[in-house]
Amino acid sequence: MEVQTLSIPQIKMTDKGFLTMRNLIQSRLGINLTDQKRGLLITRLNKYMKQAGFTTFQHYIDYLQDDQTGVSLGELADMISTNHTYFFRESKHFDFLSATALPQIMGQLRAQKILDFRMWCAAASTGEEPYGLMITLMEYLGDTYRSWDAGLLATDISREALNVAESGIYDEESVAKIPIGLRNKYFSKTQENNWLINQFVRNEITYRRLNLMRPELPFKKQFHVIFCRNVMIYFDQPTIERLVNNLYKWTAPGGYLFVGFSESLSGIQNPYRYVSPAIYQKS
Ligand SMILES: C[S@@+](CC[C@H](N)C(=O)[O-])C[C@H]1O[C@@H](n2cnc3c(N)ncnc32)[C@H](O)[C@@H]1O
Repeated sequence: MEVQTLSIPQIKMTDKGFLTMRNLIQSRLGINLTDQKRGLLITRLNKYMKQAGFTTFQHYIDYLQDDQTGVSLGELADMISTNHTYFFRESKHFDFLSATALPQIMGQLRAQKILDFRMWCAAASTGEEPYGLMITLMEYLGDTYRSWDAGLLATDISREALNVAESGIYDEESVAKIPIGLRNKYFSKTQENNWLINQFVRNEITYRRLNLMRPELPFKKQFHVIFCRNVMIYFDQPTIERLVNNLYKWTAPGGYLFVGFSESLSGIQNPYRYVSPAIYQKS
């Protein structure tokens, strides 16, 4: 008997198709796709469309445009940006947080008898960054952590990345950069020889899917610390400017914004005060 296999033809992307896709990616994701990325986009789209069962490029565009949930945009972001991250990446930021930002902000809050402290990790990816932030905060506060109403919101556009973050499970290689004392205190080994972040850390983090391109961010209260690192590298200057000014609105007075070390805000109109490389403060 002859076995027939269903093969989906490779997508051919016309100039017009590429422009439609590029405009959609620009307006909905803020990601600036250059002509050089056309080949990469086609390769990744072909792979994705085969898996998802789309037979034409137009079907896929229609799906993206009709989807109100935002899930399809997250999948698209996964195809064109990277979720690459690791524990205590750009570690100077974590040092600054515990040596300067936390003592300053929490000292002021304590003086006002407001024990309410909020952090936001705006491109949380697979969780290494938010867990690193929470560990830093818990290490700084020690036993007094319990007297604070402290929390961390971790957001990303990618549902897939957030699922990994929420699972809190990392392999040996991922945790290798964490000092052993901290690793043993905040993680436990699973039967499969992976490392699971402890429940008491996970409970303090709220994970949500959020597209940073939203013109209005859906918050009620400002944050004392915002980490928005290694995501603006994908955005063009007007998009970065809009985002940074939006972040400013949601930074509490005296609060800090941390961006990636390769994402200096020089040339970006914004009201933050420069503190040190990739660290800004709302005066
Ligand atoms: C390279 S990772 C950075 C992770 C972490 N912040 C770090 O510095 O290691 C970039 C993350 O940005 C997310 N991302 C890309 N575009 C986004 C958007 N428009 N809104 C929210 N997150 C976005 C990606 O899904 C990815 O997880």
